Amino acid sequence: MKKDVKFETKAVRTRIKPSTQKEHSLPIYETSSFIFDNAEEGRALFAEEKVGHIYTRYSNPTNDEFIMKLCALEEAEDGLATTSGMAAIFSSFVGHLKAGDHLLACRSLFGSTHQIITRILPRFGISHTYVDINDNDAWEKNIMPTTRMIFAETPSNPGLDIIDLEMLGKLAEKHNLLLVVDNTFATPYIQQPVKYGTDIIIHSTTKFIDGQGRTIGGAVIGKEKFIEDIRFIAKHTGPCISPFDAWILSKSLETLALRMDRHCDNAYKLAVYLEENQEIKWVKYPFLPSYEKYELAKKQMKSGGGLVTMELKGGAERAKKFIDSLELLSLTTNLGDTRTIVTHPATTTHSKLTEEERQAVNITRGLIRISVGVEHIEDIIADIEQAIKRSK
Ligand SMILES: Cc1ncc(COP(=O)(O)O)c(C=O)c1O
Repeated sequence: MKKDVKFETKAVRTRIKPSTQKEHSLPIYETSSFIFDNAEEGRALFAEEKVGHIYTRYSNPTNDEFIMKLCALEEAEDGLATTSGMAAIFSSFVGHLKAGDHLLACRSLFGSTHQIITRILPRFGISHTYVDINDNDAWEKNIMPTTRMIFAETPSNPGLDIIDLEMLGKLAEKHNLLLVVDNTFATPYIQQPVKYGTDIIIHSTTKFIDGQGRTIGGAVIGKEKFIEDIRFIAKHTGPCISPFDAWILSKSLETLALRMDRHCDNAYKLAVYLEENQEIKWVKYPFLPSYEKYELAKKQMKSGGGLVTMELKGGAERAKKFIDSLELLSLTTNLGDTRTIVTHPATTTHSKLTEEERQAVNITRGLIRISVGVEHIEDIIADIEQAIKRSK
């Protein structure tokens, strides 16, 4: 395939070599291990003198196709698929940080990432400083001689805060730091952090990449020299994805662009509707002109994404009544599904943070996160409208 083909073509056409059966579509290589022709081949494969599959914890052809495709879409050099988004994040930390190192991270982060940085890494002697995303100067001010990595999530879960990727890329280069970006909310269709000098990109593939809420999975991709250290950790600690899940994800990537267009279109229309509704205290969506970093969103994102956050007048009590009044939309904790999902982060995804930690990133008790699906927008709005009325 030519290198300059478009995103949609890469998503559909990136393939591993077909087997001797000449299958047109990716098979599921559901096998733990692969046969050696003879003792010498086994030795050569383990000695890395010969390239080939040995054992699925190390590599598997189905997993390879999924990762090849994701790398093509992100314009990244190399990567590996993991059993969850959190496994991808943890493997990246363990692959590149050691006791005595310092990590600089944005304060607005997914709940479990926050737990790893705040409560798990310190047990291994790895310290951190959180930076408020609106304070661009704070990133540089908080770099210490032991700082090794910058970790950012943009847009963030659930706050939809965004960080200037170009600024972070330049800062990381200037101070010789590894820049790691969680690109779960945007997906490579909307934002490609590699273009701004990001070294390692994280995905929870559980979200938009799967797209139908079937699998838990993750991926770490980026510059080959940095992926190598993470692969070593993953090979020996075992967070490998199952070939069946990798197969689902490889197929899912083929429709990513189509789905994202619909998610983003619906999310924008919903955000506009909510902004005009008198019962709404505030609504946040990166492509609304009222969004505080609208210009930056337009610069680094192709569209506003599939998530909208809002608060109703009446705060926490009203949020609860609103959620309990929904008839069509799902009340669950996932996002990036074909089905629209409504979540209350303060009591679910971010409930393990202290009240102070939540306040620091504006996760109020009234905040409602909506992952806008691909149903007809009129039906989504109708359900939200009736729930707003009934929650009064
Ligand atoms: C931004 C972000 N990163 C990472 C994760 C963790 O992914 P997983 O649930 O696949 O482990 C999530 C999950 O919601 C997320 O939203």
